[in-house]
Amino acid sequence: MNNIFDLTDKVALITGAGGLLGPKHAEAILDFGGKVILTDWHLDRVQEKAHILSLRYGNENVFYEFMDVCDKNSIEKCLDNFEAKGLKIDILINNAAKDPKVKKEDSLKNDSRFENMSEQFWKEGIDAAINGTFLVSQSVTNRMLENGIKGVVLNISSDLGVIAPDQRIYRKNDLPENEQPVKPITYSAAKWAIIGMTKYLAVYFAQRGIRVNCLSPTGVYNNHPDDFVKKLSNIIPMGRMANIDEYKGAIVFLCSEASSYMTGENMVIDGGKTVW
Ligand SMILES: NC(=O)c1ccc[n+]([C@@H]2O[C@H](COP(=O)([O-])OP(=O)(O)OC[C@H]3O[C@@H](n4cnc5c(N)ncnc54)[C@H](O)[C@@H]3O)[C@@H](O)[C@H]2O)c1
Repeated sequence: MNNIFDLTDKVALITGAGGLLGPKHAEAILDFGGKVILTDWHLDRVQEKAHILSLRYGNENVFYEFMDVCDKNSIEKCLDNFEAKGLKIDILINNAAKDPKVKKEDSLKNDSRFENMSEQFWKEGIDAAINGTFLVSQSVTNRMLENGIKGVVLNISSDLGVIAPDQRIYRKNDLPENEQPVKPITYSAAKWAIIGMTKYLAVYFAQRGIRVNCLSPTGVYNNHPDDFVKKLSNIIPMGRMANIDEYKGAIVFLCSEASSYMTGENMVIDGGKTVW
């Protein structure tokens, strides 16, 4: 039977794949027969993640390489290396971002606040998502066109690409107002921009065989502090954060023929958070 989700022999390049979700995107592609190239500017991280994946899926299906998404030379070098090995990219997942997170030992940092934010913090905060998505998409789609590949670009935004952060969930007791941690404006700027770029590129490439879509997850549970989990769950209709595996189905759908008539869309998967 023809399987519309089949990704056999498709090559997917994932940026920022050394973090939490990148390896899960890779598993989704590998489960449906594809090959993955994990890239990150922390080479040690992708090396470790690729090692774990290759034990399960085989060395011949899992590759890794250094790539700084904000550096055109490193992007081109990485793509040249894989093309020389006969690996041409069919699927690009623009996943890299600076994603300020609430951790067990820590809250968000005070320099996230708009009043105090330095120009450097602003520029660094949007760099990987905005400039990186531009630079990597340009290099990869140029090669898709040259190679006659009917490709897919999948951008990763966030529920915070369609709504503003509810800063109440980051608050700490006993801190004055001007020291309260917040999700920085950089995250909103970057994540809203990615959805705009998705729509622009989808229309730009619509008649040239490249589909461009976006996936917007909400907070994925990763051992966060209990009080944070409670506050976030309280603003999600389904009453919980996402599990780490709950985006894999969407990755397969958006990267395969199952979504062949879909382009320019943003798929929000958030337990209903942006619905009420
Ligand atoms: N984890 C969540 O709860 C969540 C929720 C919504 C959206 N997202 C989005 O999903 C994507 C992945 O999230 P994650 O939780 O895995 O993030 P993460 O912080 O764990 O991983 C991001 C990776 O990007 C890499 N990176 C940053 N700048 C880079 C650069 N210039 N070049 C190359 N790599 C670079 C980092 O080294 C890191 O390994 C991000 O775009 C994030 O905004 C995550």
